[in-house]
Amino acid sequence: MKTRKLRDIEVSEVGMGCMAFSHGYGQIPPESYSIEAIQGAYAHGCTFFDTAEVYSPNLSGIGHNERIVGKALRDVRKNTVLATKLFLSSGEVRREGSVYKAVRNHLEDSMERLGTDYIDLYYLHRTSGGVSVEDVADAMGQLFQDGLIRGWGLSQVDVDVIRRAQHVAPLSAIQNIYSMVERDVEKGVIPYCLKNNIGVVPFSPIASGLLSGKITTRTQFEINDDVRNWVPQLSKRNIAGNQPIVDLLKETAAVKGATPAQISLAWMLKKYPNVVPIPGSKNKERILENLDASEVELSDEEFKSLDDALNHLKVYGHRGFSH
Ligand SMILES: NC(=O)c1ccc[n+]([C@@H]2O[C@H](COP(=O)([O-])OP(=O)(O)OC[C@H]3O[C@@H](n4cnc5c(N)ncnc54)[C@H](OP(=O)(O)O)[C@@H]3O)[C@@H](O)[C@H]2O)c1
Repeated sequence: MKTRKLRDIEVSEVGMGCMAFSHGYGQIPPESYSIEAIQGAYAHGCTFFDTAEVYSPNLSGIGHNERIVGKALRDVRKNTVLATKLFLSSGEVRREGSVYKAVRNHLEDSMERLGTDYIDLYYLHRTSGGVSVEDVADAMGQLFQDGLIRGWGLSQVDVDVIRRAQHVAPLSAIQNIYSMVERDVEKGVIPYCLKNNIGVVPFSPIASGLLSGKITTRTQFEINDDVRNWVPQLSKRNIAGNQPIVDLLKETAAVKGATPAQISLAWMLKKYPNVVPIPGSKNKERILENLDASEVELSDEEFKSLDDALNHLKVYGHRGFSH
């Protein structure tokens, strides 16, 4: 698979979001299936794997997903780029006496679960508030000097926060929501990142499945631990409202001999050279389908016609993510 750089970290052009093996999209598969799916992605050319300490069933524990990713990639660790994320509370910073110590505790726990002695890309996932991004950046800079991380990033942040962090310790990547139906980052975040050699890693790039064309107003989401029940964009009304966008994808996909999900990923790959999406799926076949978006080349003309058409279509609802 083609590769891209997140600052100086080389990754496959399409990465793999591993969250759903532990949380967020209903029933989780048996661990052996998840491990095979991750190994299948690696065998298919994926080198970039995204996890987080909080990805556990119902978000009730810590590390379920990191353990699975660690087990799956143990034998090929050196050939992979592992990205994980920490949630930092102001209380633990007070208890530990410094942001550095608090972040390092999280990092060491994540490394143990992932079975590695370094993390390639370490993100601040969220904080409880009361922790300054400058202090986190400073801690990440020290962890880089310690040789424990190869780069660091922030998740779901605006340009002001990125700028403040970047002045303290250069960022490798920003992981924000981005898809054909969530385009806020195009206004400020992506231009700033392009200018400052920061990668952009879109999460939910298929809009939680909407852009695959497989979700209809009749789709029943799972009852337990399925975020699609509360994503406003996936209310029946908004699924119906967004149908013209799905139809546009289906038309383009038919012309290109690709799938709608692949076109939605190929569109962002064509649009920005610093974007590396991490689609999520707990289905082995769809994981490979999404990785193959890297093979779908949109010509300049095809891209323009798709982008222009998209710009004229109204988007109904958002994912409901807060900053
Ligand atoms: N930083 C953050 O705050 C944050 C937040 C959310 C997610 N993330 C990361 O981003 C990754 C991706 O985000 P996401 O999983 O929320 O969204 P996504 O990739 O946009 O969508 C995942 C959903 O789409 C379905 N899907 C995926 N590919 C498909 C295909 N080709 N055809 C049909 N359906 C398809 C999946 O169903 P199946 O499983 O049935 O295929 C699943 O329900 C996560 O795994 C996680 O690592 C980060």
